[in-house]
This record gives sequence, structure tokens and C-alpha cells, in this order.
Amino acid sequence: MDQIMEIARKYGLFVVEDAAQAIGAGYKDRKAGSIGDLGCFSFFPSKNLGGFGDGGMVITNDQSLYEKIKVLRVHGGSPRYHHKTIGGNFRLDEIQAAILQVKLKHLKEWTQKRRNHAAFYLENIKDFVGSVNPPVTKDENSHIFNQFVIRAKNRDKLRKYLADNGISTEIYYPIPFHLQECFSYLGHKEGDFPEAERAAKETLALPVYPELTIGQKMYIIEKIRNFFSWTDERFRGQNCRD
Ligand SMILES: Cc1ncc(COP(=O)(O)O)c(C=O)c1O
Repeated sequence: MDQIMEIARKYGLFVVEDAAQAIGAGYKDRKAGSIGDLGCFSFFPSKNLGGFGDGGMVITNDQSLYEKIKVLRVHGGSPRYHHKTIGGNFRLDEIQAAILQVKLKHLKEWTQKRRNHAAFYLENIKDFVGSVNPPVTKDENSHIFNQFVIRAKNRDKLRKYLADNGISTEIYYPIPFHLQECFSYLGHKEGDFPEAERAAKETLALPVYPELTIGQKMYIIEKIRNFFSWTDERFRGQNCRD
């Protein structure tokens, strides 16, 4: 973020942080979403602070951006029925706000549980490095693990094997931006962004929700270990560490 902010300041740009699922995460001494000019959070039900339907929040310390966003949120009307600008209906439903207020009280505890799950996974997959590459958190960052995303060899086969054993996983995201149909007018083709393409082929999110039990985590690790024991001699007959 430091470099991004530096470039933005140099060229007079605004920075909008997409902190959709990073609420509580940190970069150096700052919280995700509080570094740029605007920070955006998602309250989509699958997020670490999820509502009971769609919702989100924008934060800023800039008074004029705050005024602008407040107007955009209500169809661009200010005062009511007077429109200098075109906005939309971006209000958070009160029922969502009420639910989020209750859930917010538990966020710290849920985050800690996610971190504990991540630590368990990291401890138990560190031997697989080469077949599985775990997420790396730099010392200056604090991760809240809304997702625990590994990069795996034979990712699609691993995913199917886990699914066959009753373990849900997800791929975030299978198609990089430059290969999405909506951006085809930019003229990119496969090979233009090899790192993004490689990530799309290798990444797999393992279950990391707070309620995950120790038994479930051990089962997941056992199954990953089983899978790789077919492709990697090193893991034959090994068990999960408690
Ligand atoms: C990084 C990121 N940004 C934005 C979004 C979109 O959030 P919403 O569905 O609340 O608009 C998501 C949702 O998955 C996301 O993961």
C-alpha cells in the first residue's frame, strides 16, 4: 500500500481500497480500508462480517468525499428531489444494519478462530511444500483469513477428491480479468498475464469458517495428505499432527 499511495500522491489520484473481505486485517500500523482515500467493505453473507443479504460500507476521512458518497447513495438527490448528479439506491437496509450490529460484537472472536484454523493448516501442510503452497503473511501484515487459499499441484483433481470426501472448497477466481468476456474489447489473450493465469489454475480455498471443529480440520488435512500420497512418495503413511 505504501507504494500505491506514493504513486497516487505523485499523480494526484484517489485510492479506493477494496477491503471487501478484509475487515480487521492490518498493514503495518493501519487497518485495511483506512489507508486509501476510501475504503469499501462487503457485508455479503459469505464474508467474515456478513449480513442476511447484500450490503456494504464505504469509509473515508475526507469530508468532501463523504458528502459526495452520501448523495450518490440516495439516487444523487440533495436536497431531496433535487438532482445535480446521478446516483443509485445504495442504502443499507435497516434490517441488515440491525443484524450486523449483533454480529459485529463477535467479529474479534471469529477472527481469532479463523487465525487458529489457519495456524493449524499451516503447521500441517508445511511438509507438503512443493505440492501445496500455503498463504504467506508478511511480518508487517495481519491476516484475518476470510479465505485460506492454498496453491496446489493438480488443483482440479484435488478439489474433486475433497468434494468426493464431503469437503467443500472454492476457487477464487477461476478466470482472470483479462480473459473475462466483458474485457475482451481490450484485446488481451491467454499468456498476457502469466502470473494471474497461474494463480487462477492453482488456487484453492479450504474451509476456514470459525465454527470448524478440530476433528473437521484433521479430516481435511488427512484427505489432502491422502491425495498427495498418490502423487508424492514423501507423504505415504503419514498422519495429521494434533
Ligand atoms: C475482493 C472483493 N471485492 C468485491 C467483492 C464484491 O462485494 P459485493 O458482492 O458486496 O459487491 C467481493 C465479493 O466477493 C470481493 O471478494
